Amino acid sequence: MTQHLAAPPTGTSDDAPGHRRGWWQDAVIYQVYPRSFADGDGDGMGDLDGVRRRLPHLRALGVDAVWLSPFYASPQADAGYDVADYRAIDPMFGTLHDADALIRDAHGLGLRIIVDLVPNHSSSEHDWFKRALREGPGSALRERYHFRPGKGVDGELPPNDWESIFGGPAWTRTTDPDGTPGDWYLHLFAPEQPDFNWEHPAVADEFRSILRFWLDMGVDGFRVDVAHGLVKAEGLPDIGGAGQLRLLDSSDGGTPFFDQDGVHEIYRQWRVILDEYPGDRIAVAEAWTPTVERTANYVRPDELHQAFNFQYLTTSWEAEALREVIDVSLAAMRPVGAPATWVLSNHDVTRHATRFAGPPGGPTQTREPGDRTLGLRRARAATLLMLALPGSAYLYQGEELGLPDVTDLPDEVRQDPSFFRADGQDGFRDGCRVPIPWTREGSSYGFGDGGSWLPQPDCWGALSVEAQTGDPGSTLELYRSALTVRREHPGLGAGTAVQWRDAPRGVLVFARPGFVCTVNTTDTAVRFEVPGTLLLASAPVPTEDGHTELGPDTTAWWTV
Ligand code: NOJ
Repeated sequence: MTQHLAAPPTGTSDDAPGHRRGWWQDAVIYQVYPRSFADGDGDGMGDLDGVRRRLPHLRALGVDAVWLSPFYASPQADAGYDVADYRAIDPMFGTLHDADALIRDAHGLGLRIIVDLVPNHSSSEHDWFKRALREGPGSALRERYHFRPGKGVDGELPPNDWESIFGGPAWTRTTDPDGTPGDWYLHLFAPEQPDFNWEHPAVADEFRSILRFWLDMGVDGFRVDVAHGLVKAEGLPDIGGAGQLRLLDSSDGGTPFFDQDGVHEIYRQWRVILDEYPGDRIAVAEAWTPTVERTANYVRPDELHQAFNFQYLTTSWEAEALREVIDVSLAAMRPVGAPATWVLSNHDVTRHATRFAGPPGGPTQTREPGDRTLGLRRARAATLLMLALPGSAYLYQGEELGLPDVTDLPDEVRQDPSFFRADGQDGFRDGCRVPIPWTREGSSYGFGDGGSWLPQPDCWGALSVEAQTGDPGSTLELYRSALTVRREHPGLGAGTAVQWRDAPRGVLVFARPGFVCTVNTTDTAVRFEVPGTLLLASAPVPTEDGHTELGPDTTAWWTV
């Protein structure tokens, strides 16, 4: 059963203290994955009440905004990215009253709230889709999705050669109401996620209305899921042997279902709505495009406000590669006037403490634990580098604890649909979705009173918020200090450029207003003249006689 409020509650973004124009341009935005953050009702699954109770942690951490992954009514075929009702909360996460309370409390603490919007596809349990199936061929509701007859003598072959991002064909055949095999429908992801037909005016109208519903609830913005996928090329042409396409390994410019120019008209219309509301409401695109220049198209002045920088996320821990992606990202955003964004982890990729624990250039999803000490050292250094860059940064829950990915989850507890569609060869996203630890001991390390929907490793207690609080060497205190410094020195996230200084191979040195950031990505210490007064470092930085030894995989911030 889903829950609705009779009338949307009040409470707008203007309630958030400290409001100023353009808050998002240098904001640090923390991603909460609701099922794994905190469990308020003890059913083993995180929920909105759990998030609300833990807001003080986020306030103390020093982030500006919270992005919540989907909490809408959903059969959970893809952890909520399969939405059955866009205006209702799934009972496992709570009610609309809980959402209202969460938004109000967050605003009271000076935190903005960004919700996930999933416009590329619905759940196969969405009322439109269920009725389209029930009413059979000829139903007008079928035009809101992509239904097509199959190829072959009896229509037994899919209408084209597109493959699902999660593996297997991107088409599933329906059964007509009389029991005979019928048309096929398109799903770029799981079969439970049929793609909307964005050429149909009812789809566009519906999403404009959904935007307004959540804006009226007081949210400060939207993270737009698969923002690059809404419009498909006319006639749904074959790809012709381009091979399996991957969400997380996208270099597929020119594919007929991604990054089509038509998507931009949709975002222009959305921008008009966002601008109608007081309080600087924003939207951030999840757009996997072949280049950052293509990504910049999503954040032109009359479109969305930010786009995730996946080129940055997929760059290895190597100075030259990092410098290049930083330069290219800043240069791409400058002409459109949008802030660059930076991200190291999210709910779709292996946590960066584990990605950096292996050889450079490894995959974005892995089951290899690597060298944990090395991974954490690099992760801490990478975080300080990211937070010294101009623009907005995204954090993923648990990275402030230095959590590694859980690489040894038994197959039988895995829930990622892509794991099953790829025959266990891919789809390891559950490893970064394990509920996070709050306390040293206790049921599910303080996640909740009723266990945890994915098993937590034994080391989780020592990595908990409780265990790390007050320990000056902990990763949690490093994040708190870094975010405090960023707040006290607004120049750190501002602007659109960094000034590079000469540095040995494997080392990055750049200046920001009043600051110098030094990064050693090599495995040996580097000695150089101190550039200023040490402010913060990811590992101890000994200085003597005006010189410093920057250790392996270490970042230091200096005031000048
Ligand atoms: C991107 C989301 O981040 C991912 O978790 C989801 O599986 C796909 N979009 C499909 O909605």
